[in-house]
Amino acid sequence: MTAISPRLKHEVKDLALAPLGRQRIEWAGREMPVLRQIRDRFAKEKPFAGLRLVACAHITTETAHLAIALKAGGADALLIASNPLSTQDDVAASLVVDHEIPVFAQKGEDNETYSRHVQIALDHRPNIIIDDGSDVVATLVQERQHQIADLIGTTEETTTGIVRLRAMLKDGVLTFPAVNVNDADTKHFFDNRYGTGQSTLDGIIRATNILLAGKTIVVAGYGWCGKGTALRARGLGANVIVTEIDPIKAIEAVMDGFRVLPMIEAAPQGDLFITVTGNKHVIRAEHFNVMKDGAIVCNSGHFDIEIDLKHLASQAKEIKQVRPFTEQYQLGNGKSVIVIGEGRLVNLAAAEGHPSAVMDMSFANQALAVEYLVKNKGKLEPGLHSIPTEVDQEIARLKLQAIGISIDSLTPDQIEYINSWTTGT
Ligand SMILES: NC(=O)c1ccc[n+]([C@@H]2O[C@H](COP(=O)([O-])OP(=O)(O)OC[C@H]3O[C@@H](n4cnc5c(N)ncnc54)[C@H](O)[C@@H]3O)[C@@H](O)[C@H]2O)c1
Repeated sequence: MTAISPRLKHEVKDLALAPLGRQRIEWAGREMPVLRQIRDRFAKEKPFAGLRLVACAHITTETAHLAIALKAGGADALLIASNPLSTQDDVAASLVVDHEIPVFAQKGEDNETYSRHVQIALDHRPNIIIDDGSDVVATLVQERQHQIADLIGTTEETTTGIVRLRAMLKDGVLTFPAVNVNDADTKHFFDNRYGTGQSTLDGIIRATNILLAGKTIVVAGYGWCGKGTALRARGLGANVIVTEIDPIKAIEAVMDGFRVLPMIEAAPQGDLFITVTGNKHVIRAEHFNVMKDGAIVCNSGHFDIEIDLKHLASQAKEIKQVRPFTEQYQLGNGKSVIVIGEGRLVNLAAAEGHPSAVMDMSFANQALAVEYLVKNKGKLEPGLHSIPTEVDQEIARLKLQAIGISIDSLTPDQIEYINSWTTGT
């Protein structure tokens, strides 16, 4: 194993896992041509020279490519996990050993360790924060106001983080620029929808090995993640029921051909429940009470509060692990409920997260968002900023080019037509 500098701090599970991590990182890179091009440019231009950067992210093979690209651009980058169960320990080891990037992340770390790692990230005195769920930024705002002067800005990866940033803005505490990566079209159209759709089912299948064909699957939330999950569940032959609180999303689900019910009516029918709402206690006591014996519940939303597991545990006579990442709660009423991945993001807890091909675009957005913040240092207003449309379009163009797909372009006549109002019937 390569010797690492004693000055390089880290908290990873086992550095001996590095060779496996290296091999898997290389494999993921095959499907990440857009980020590769950005990394090569960063290596030449060094846009982040002299800047301290913290990334709070799921430590996956794809995140490794983002970290490598940022380091190639000159950033003094440090990584922490954005969820206690989402770290791939071999990847964390390879980042330390092969790339000399400090990583503080271990799969299965407890909440206390997770919070301590957030503090370590802030001790790095970041000029840039890449956040996923807004834990680092929220801690900065609540506990380290004096460090905001060091900050050029932050980028946010996921819907839940954006919801929190909007709440900070409303409370007047978002006093620096934050780039909304989640809402870039080349992010949520693909990552939240197709990425979550495929990897959530992948996590469920790896954890349980159940046949999905013929099962009744209840998907809570018909946002981007819910749409992808429902679509893929139907593709595998399941009967899908959607629950929603937004009437427009509910109509969309109906017209996409799904049954839509309130959770209390779906609860007795479901064999498997998947929450993707970003909300809390979407499945709670009244729903557990009417579920079938052996119903399976899991979550693919950002935090582990979508299913009220505290209540479930309080009703359990016994909780036993029945397979890796799969626990059976034996209830006092004689029935049991199966929980996958402790109610945390099932696609990262029990599988490997999104496929590289979608993360290529998500992390291209992250890399270019960081560059945008740095190029516009001191010029951006405090608050939330969208990814510029040209950046979004360029990422899509590069992705199409990489997968060998050409599209039409407007003729001069068409350009004139769509820019005029004089031609009618
Ligand atoms: N698993 C992953 O890898 C992954 C990837 C991307 C996003 N996420 C997370 O997944 C969650 C959803 O993200 P999204 O982009 O789909 O968000 P979204 O806002 O597009 O969709 C959420 C949907 O849930 C609905 N909802 C809210 N409360 C509900 C309730 N009580 N019952 C039923 N429906 C309810 C909302 O009306 C909305 O339509 C967020 O927490 C996000 O951070 C996870």
